[in-house]
Amino acid sequence: MNKNNLATRDACAALDAADPLAPLRDQFDLPPGVIYLDGNSLGALPKATADRVQDVVRREWGRDLIQSWNTAGWIDAPQRIGDKIARLVGAAPGEVIAADSTSVNLYKVLSVALAAVRARDGADSRRRVIVSERDNFPTDLYIAESLARQHGFTLRLVETDAIAAQLTGPAADELAVLLLTHVHYRTGRMHPMAELTAAAHAAGALVVWDLAHSAGAVPVDLNGCGADFAIGCGYKYLNGGPGAPAFLWCHARHLAQAVWQPLAGWMGHAAPFAFTPAYQPAAGVKAFLCGTPSPIGLAALECGVDTVLAAEAHGGMAAVRAKSLAMTALFRQLVETRCAGHGLTLHTPVDPAERGSQVSLHREEGAYAIVQALIARGVVGDYRAPGILRFGFTPLTLRFVEVWDAVEHLRQVLDSGEWREGRFHQRAAVT
Ligand SMILES: Cc1ncc(COP(=O)(O)O)c(C=O)c1O
Repeated sequence: MNKNNLATRDACAALDAADPLAPLRDQFDLPPGVIYLDGNSLGALPKATADRVQDVVRREWGRDLIQSWNTAGWIDAPQRIGDKIARLVGAAPGEVIAADSTSVNLYKVLSVALAAVRARDGADSRRRVIVSERDNFPTDLYIAESLARQHGFTLRLVETDAIAAQLTGPAADELAVLLLTHVHYRTGRMHPMAELTAAAHAAGALVVWDLAHSAGAVPVDLNGCGADFAIGCGYKYLNGGPGAPAFLWCHARHLAQAVWQPLAGWMGHAAPFAFTPAYQPAAGVKAFLCGTPSPIGLAALECGVDTVLAAEAHGGMAAVRAKSLAMTALFRQLVETRCAGHGLTLHTPVDPAERGSQVSLHREEGAYAIVQALIARGVVGDYRAPGILRFGFTPLTLRFVEVWDAVEHLRQVLDSGEWREGRFHQRAAVT
């Protein structure tokens, strides 16, 4: 975008007119007048979802009853949808399943990673450390701490700029597993996945990536960079709906070991309906299933994943990434020029190589209330403590003029001081 015409809404309208992804917005039901900048937290509702879920409930469940496990493909849905998600994260068919929550999936893969290192290096090995980022998403840290306690490992939390030193420095031979979230939930900072994976492997460690803020948002090439395990959310950029099933990826070299995962349940058994007392893991990623999947939740997730796969006919994830970077850069530049002097600082890297699909701003005072004042105007972002106004950019639904309008609302909220009104300061349970 030309800096001279940056400030004009007309220039943004011209970008929309030339946008190859513009037709994809029609896949969604967005309320009129709302500028939705929270698709990084809960993706928008696809138009197909309500009918599809209704069909699952009324026809597949209500009319066809239990036959639908076979006739409607309910039993294969975790793998079928996993194969679709695989296309978005550089995985092969048969390597991804959709199931459970991100937290539960992390428990499974991290546990398997620790067992794999122990089996390779022996129980007396010095490799007893899981390294993660101090500011990683808390559920990842809680799960890692829990597993470290159970299995005699230590969770070592380091600052972002100290991660590389853990992989090459004197502590590298203690490293069992590197656990990182690819795009940081609060700052939007993106780690160099290929580089860090290679460095961790050179140190003799395995790598687990949390793709909660990456899948459907940025190009990911899990097999290309040879990572070991990955997990991610279905309800964010994959538009699967609130509490949608999450996903799990395991590299084929680990699948081949026919690993026992810690939540060995009957759906991960090679023959669940043989009802044998002895557990025999299924071949492939299916062994990571545990209990009965929810056909309703999976149907909604499939609709959401299909909205992202629809981008394949419009330039694919490369086009999604190009639009996302253009939008996040536009938002940042507009905030810097039009909201100057209001105490906002940028919390997201300016370098496109280090930026996911969100922009986070920090303000010492009133960040929560400013977000609420924006929501009252129909500009929906969210707040993350401490002091972060978080805005997600979903190229499938957003228009450039909406980016311009969102910043104009932010300017007005700050100029007028309307965020000081008491009603914007009442804290809800979910921020
Ligand atoms: C990076 C990251 N990991 C994990 C989660 C939690 O996922 P779940 O609630 O599916 O366990 C979130 C939720 O926002 C997240 O942002």
